[in-house]
Amino acid sequence: MTVLVVATGNPGKVKELQVYLDGLGWELRPKPDALEVEETGATFMENACLKASQIAQAVGEWAIADDSGLEVQALQGSPGVYSARYGSSDHDRIQRLLDELGSTSNRAAQFVCAIAVARPDGTIALQTEGYCLGEILTVPQGIGGFGYDPIFYVPEHRLTFAEMPPELKRQVSHRGKALELLFPQLRALEQK
Ligand code: IMP
Repeated sequence: MTVLVVATGNPGKVKELQVYLDGLGWELRPKPDALEVEETGATFMENACLKASQIAQAVGEWAIADDSGLEVQALQGSPGVYSARYGSSDHDRIQRLLDELGSTSNRAAQFVCAIAVARPDGTIALQTEGYCLGEILTVPQGIGGFGYDPIFYVPEHRLTFAEMPPELKRQVSHRGKALELLFPQLRALEQK
Protein backbone atom coordinates (compact mmCIF):
# COMPACT_ATOMS: atom_id res chain seq x y z
CA MET A 1 0.00 0.00 0.00
CA THR A 2 1.24 3.48 -0.82
CA VAL A 3 0.46 6.17 1.73
CA LEU A 4 -1.66 9.07 0.40
CA VAL A 5 -1.95 11.99 2.81
CA VAL A 6 -5.21 13.90 2.50
CA ALA A 7 -4.55 17.65 2.75
CA THR A 8 -7.59 18.48 4.83
CA GLY A 9 -8.34 19.04 8.49
CA ASN A 10 -11.79 17.56 7.94
CA PRO A 11 -12.03 13.84 8.96
CA GLY A 12 -15.31 13.62 6.96
CA LYS A 13 -13.42 14.26 3.71
CA VAL A 14 -10.91 11.48 4.51
CA LYS A 15 -13.75 9.05 5.22
CA GLU A 16 -15.58 9.99 2.01
CA LEU A 17 -12.44 9.47 -0.06
CA GLN A 18 -11.74 6.14 1.64
CA VAL A 19 -15.11 4.82 0.46
CA TYR A 20 -14.26 5.73 -3.14
CA LEU A 21 -10.71 4.34 -2.94
CA ASP A 22 -11.72 1.05 -1.36
CA GLY A 23 -9.89 -1.83 -3.02
CA LEU A 24 -7.17 0.37 -4.53
CA GLY A 25 -3.58 0.20 -3.28
CA TRP A 26 -3.63 3.54 -1.44
CA GLU A 27 -3.68 3.94 2.32
CA LEU A 28 -5.28 7.27 3.21
CA ARG A 29 -3.95 9.30 6.14
CA PRO A 30 -5.11 12.67 7.43
CA LYS A 31 -2.53 15.45 7.33
CA PRO A 32 -0.85 16.40 10.62
CA ASP A 33 -3.03 19.00 12.41
CA ALA A 34 -0.21 21.51 12.78
CA LEU A 35 0.42 21.62 9.04
CA GLU A 36 -1.58 24.47 7.50
CA VAL A 37 -1.22 25.71 3.92
CA GLU A 38 -2.45 29.18 3.00
CA GLU A 39 -4.76 29.24 -0.02
CA THR A 40 -3.08 32.08 -1.91
CA GLY A 41 -3.81 30.84 -5.45
CA ALA A 42 -5.93 32.78 -7.96
CA THR A 43 -7.74 29.62 -9.14
CA PHE A 44 -9.14 26.48 -7.54
CA MET A 45 -6.51 24.38 -9.32
CA GLU A 46 -3.66 26.61 -8.14
CA ASN A 47 -4.86 26.17 -4.55
CA ALA A 48 -5.27 22.39 -4.89
CA CYS A 49 -1.74 22.07 -6.34
CA LEU A 50 -0.28 24.37 -3.69
CA LYS A 51 -1.81 22.33 -0.87
CA ALA A 52 -0.96 18.90 -2.34
CA SER A 53 2.60 19.93 -3.14
CA GLN A 54 3.42 21.57 0.20
CA ILE A 55 1.89 18.77 2.29
CA ALA A 56 3.66 16.08 0.21
CA GLN A 57 7.02 17.77 0.69
CA ALA A 58 6.44 18.36 4.40
CA VAL A 59 5.57 14.74 5.18
CA GLY A 60 7.61 13.02 2.43
CA GLU A 61 4.61 11.01 1.17
CA TRP A 62 2.12 11.25 -1.71
CA ALA A 63 -0.59 13.84 -0.99
CA ILE A 64 -4.03 14.68 -2.37
CA ALA A 65 -5.77 18.07 -2.00
CA ASP A 66 -8.93 19.68 -3.28
CA ASP A 67 -10.26 23.19 -3.52
CA SER A 68 -13.82 24.07 -4.37
CA GLY A 69 -16.30 26.88 -4.47
CA LEU A 70 -19.14 28.64 -6.21
CA GLU A 71 -18.90 30.90 -9.29
CA VAL A 72 -21.85 33.16 -10.03
CA GLN A 73 -22.07 34.50 -13.58
CA ALA A 74 -23.72 37.85 -12.81
CA LEU A 75 -21.04 38.49 -10.15
CA GLN A 76 -18.21 37.85 -12.65
CA GLY A 77 -17.35 34.51 -11.02
CA SER A 78 -17.51 35.63 -7.36
CA PRO A 79 -17.30 34.33 -4.68
CA GLY A 80 -14.97 31.88 -6.50
CA VAL A 81 -11.82 31.05 -4.54
CA TYR A 82 -13.15 33.26 -1.74
CA SER A 83 -16.27 31.06 -1.25
CA ALA A 84 -15.21 29.92 2.23
CA ARG A 85 -14.14 33.44 3.23
CA TYR A 86 -17.23 35.32 1.95
CA GLY A 87 -18.67 35.68 5.45
CA SER A 88 -18.21 34.29 8.94
CA SER A 89 -20.96 31.63 8.79
CA ASP A 90 -22.92 29.72 6.12
CA HIS A 91 -25.88 31.98 6.89
CA ASP A 92 -23.81 35.17 6.39
CA ARG A 93 -22.21 33.90 3.18
CA ILE A 94 -25.60 33.01 1.69
CA GLN A 95 -27.09 36.36 2.76
CA ARG A 96 -24.19 38.31 1.25
CA LEU A 97 -24.53 36.46 -2.05
CA LEU A 98 -28.31 37.03 -2.17
CA ASP A 99 -27.85 40.73 -1.34
CA GLU A 100 -25.22 41.18 -4.05
CA LEU A 101 -27.41 39.44 -6.64
CA GLY A 102 -30.52 41.37 -5.59
CA SER A 103 -33.27 40.90 -8.19
CA THR A 104 -30.84 40.18 -11.04
CA SER A 105 -32.56 37.88 -13.51
CA ASN A 106 -29.34 36.08 -14.53
CA ARG A 107 -29.04 33.49 -11.73
CA ALA A 108 -26.62 31.14 -13.54
CA ALA A 109 -23.87 29.66 -11.37
CA GLN A 110 -21.55 26.69 -11.16
CA PHE A 111 -19.80 24.80 -8.41
CA VAL A 112 -16.19 23.91 -9.26
CA CYS A 113 -13.93 21.34 -7.61
CA ALA A 114 -10.23 20.97 -8.43
CA ILE A 115 -8.24 18.00 -7.17
CA ALA A 116 -4.46 17.57 -7.31
CA VAL A 117 -2.21 14.66 -6.34
CA ALA A 118 1.46 15.35 -5.59
CA ARG A 119 4.43 12.98 -5.42
CA PRO A 120 6.55 12.90 -2.24
CA ASP A 121 8.97 15.40 -3.81
CA GLY A 122 6.12 17.90 -4.29
CA THR A 123 5.78 17.60 -8.07
CA ILE A 124 2.21 17.31 -9.35
CA ALA A 125 1.24 13.88 -10.72
CA LEU A 126 -2.50 14.32 -11.37
CA GLN A 127 -5.04 17.12 -11.75
CA THR A 128 -8.78 16.83 -12.33
CA GLU A 129 -11.63 19.32 -12.29
CA GLY A 130 -15.39 18.78 -11.92
CA TYR A 131 -18.31 21.15 -12.47
CA CYS A 132 -21.99 21.29 -11.59
CA LEU A 133 -24.21 23.84 -13.35
CA GLY A 134 -27.15 25.39 -11.54
CA GLU A 135 -29.05 28.54 -10.56
CA ILE A 136 -29.07 30.70 -7.45
CA LEU A 137 -32.53 30.84 -5.86
CA THR A 138 -33.86 34.02 -4.23
CA VAL A 139 -34.82 32.13 -1.05
CA PRO A 140 -33.00 29.15 0.55
CA GLN A 141 -34.67 25.77 0.09
CA GLY A 142 -33.89 22.51 1.94
CA ILE A 143 -32.03 21.63 5.11
CA GLY A 144 -29.40 19.07 4.04
CA GLY A 145 -25.77 19.54 3.02
CA PHE A 146 -23.62 22.52 3.96
CA GLY A 147 -22.36 25.87 2.69
CA TYR A 148 -24.30 27.33 -0.23
CA ASP A 149 -26.37 24.14 -0.74
CA PRO A 150 -29.82 25.65 0.12
CA ILE A 151 -29.59 28.33 -2.62
CA PHE A 152 -27.99 26.16 -5.34
CA TYR A 153 -30.76 24.74 -7.54
CA VAL A 154 -30.03 22.06 -10.14
CA PRO A 155 -32.74 22.37 -12.84
CA GLU A 156 -32.06 18.90 -14.24
CA HIS A 157 -33.18 17.36 -10.92
CA ARG A 158 -35.53 20.18 -9.82
CA LEU A 159 -33.86 20.18 -6.41
CA THR A 160 -31.35 22.29 -4.52
CA PHE A 161 -28.21 20.57 -3.26
CA ALA A 162 -29.76 20.87 0.23
CA GLU A 163 -32.84 18.92 -0.91
CA MET A 164 -30.92 16.07 -2.57
CA PRO A 165 -30.36 12.72 -0.88
CA PRO A 166 -26.57 12.53 -0.19
CA GLU A 167 -26.20 9.74 -2.75
CA LEU A 168 -27.64 11.91 -5.54
CA LYS A 169 -25.55 14.92 -4.51
CA ARG A 170 -22.43 12.74 -4.67
CA GLN A 171 -23.36 11.70 -8.22
CA VAL A 172 -24.13 15.12 -9.65
CA SER A 173 -21.86 17.40 -7.61
CA HIS A 174 -18.65 19.07 -8.78
CA ARG A 175 -16.74 16.97 -6.21
CA GLY A 176 -18.33 13.72 -7.41
CA LYS A 177 -17.47 14.58 -11.02
CA ALA A 178 -13.85 15.49 -10.19
CA LEU A 179 -13.46 12.26 -8.17
CA GLU A 180 -14.99 10.20 -10.97
CA LEU A 181 -12.30 11.53 -13.33
CA LEU A 182 -9.58 11.02 -10.73
CA PHE A 183 -10.06 7.36 -9.87
CA PRO A 184 -9.08 5.73 -13.17
CA GLN A 185 -5.98 7.96 -13.16
CA LEU A 186 -5.09 6.98 -9.58
CA ARG A 187 -5.58 3.35 -10.52
CA ALA A 188 -3.25 3.79 -13.51
CA LEU A 189 -0.63 5.48 -11.30
CA GLU A 190 -0.82 2.60 -8.86
CA GLN A 191 -0.06 0.11 -11.65
CA LYS A 192 3.10 1.93 -12.77
P1 IMP B 1 -12.74 24.54 0.52
O1 IMP B 1 -13.08 23.66 1.67
O2 IMP B 1 -11.54 25.38 0.67
O3 IMP B 1 -12.77 23.79 -0.79
O4 IMP B 1 -13.88 25.67 0.46
C1 IMP B 1 -15.03 25.42 -0.19
C2 IMP B 1 -16.09 26.44 0.19
O5 IMP B 1 -16.92 26.54 -0.96
C3 IMP B 1 -16.94 25.92 1.34
O6 IMP B 1 -16.65 26.54 2.53
C4 IMP B 1 -18.35 26.27 0.87
O7 IMP B 1 -18.65 27.56 1.28
C5 IMP B 1 -18.24 26.24 -0.64
N1 IMP B 1 -18.58 24.91 -1.17
C6 IMP B 1 -17.76 24.03 -1.79
N2 IMP B 1 -18.42 22.91 -2.14
C7 IMP B 1 -19.69 23.08 -1.73
C8 IMP B 1 -20.86 22.26 -1.80
O8 IMP B 1 -20.88 21.13 -2.31
N3 IMP B 1 -21.97 22.80 -1.28
C9 IMP B 1 -22.03 24.03 -0.71
N4 IMP B 1 -20.97 24.82 -0.60
C10 IMP B 1 -19.80 24.36 -1.11
